[in-house]
Amino acid sequence: MEVIDALKRRFTVRAFKPDPVDRKTLENILEAALKAPSWANTQPWEIYVAGGGVLNKLREAYVQNLKNCVQRSPDLAAPKQWPLALQGRMESLRAERTTTLERVCLDKTTLKDLSEMNYHFFYAPAVAYLCMDRTLTPWSVFDLGLLAQSIMLAAQNYGVDSATAVTLAAHPDLVRQELKIPDDLSIIIGIALGYADPGHPQNQFRSSRRTVQDAVTFLGI
Ligand SMILES: Cc1cc2nc3c(=O)[nH]c(=O)nc-3n(C[C@H](O)[C@H](O)[C@H](O)COP(=O)(O)O)c2cc1C
Repeated sequence: MEVIDALKRRFTVRAFKPDPVDRKTLENILEAALKAPSWANTQPWEIYVAGGGVLNKLREAYVQNLKNCVQRSPDLAAPKQWPLALQGRMESLRAERTTTLERVCLDKTTLKDLSEMNYHFFYAPAVAYLCMDRTLTPWSVFDLGLLAQSIMLAAQNYGVDSATAVTLAAHPDLVRQELKIPDDLSIIIGIALGYADPGHPQNQFRSSRRTVQDAVTFLGI
């Protein structure tokens, strides 16, 4: 698949079919993604991929946390306040998603609350957790971002869909326990991997983007 096609076709899939992604395909995706660049080739990532019974146990623990209203405590804290323009885009995203979901979801009872879908890991058969040493800084988070997008694009090449979601790492204590991740690693982000359920209302939405004119300032060109 051409890179431009992969970039255009990828979107955050929020409802997966239960079909597993086989181990070889996951290895192929990760092998390609590990070509991602990093500061001084430090390759700060440690990747844990969970599926099958391990992931289901973690999923159950997550759902329990949702039921018990357990506060999120991600290893990588969210900003206390977002710049106004970004806050506006977050609100637009919410409004646009709601409009789409209300339009496509004829039977309101089948429409699960989005946060609930997050806690079910969007029913994905596999989740890759990207971790790094706790002592590292945003420099290395940047590298993990490059890796994340590389994983999602490589996945597209193999017909595998994805959802990068901070919620998957919102309860790091549970993830650490089930996946046996050492304490000296921060769990930065989770990427759900699997095959999109094309008919599901959650997958009818496509987010909008800023234009080149809006986002880019050209100088001397
Ligand atoms: C770092 C990061 C964290 C995200 N966390 C979540 C999340 O917790 N739940 C969710 O539904 N989507 C999450 N997303 C998906 C974004 O909402 C999505 O990428 C954005 O709205 C653009 O839409 P698209 O991915 O479909 O193009 C996350 C994306 C990124 C890059």
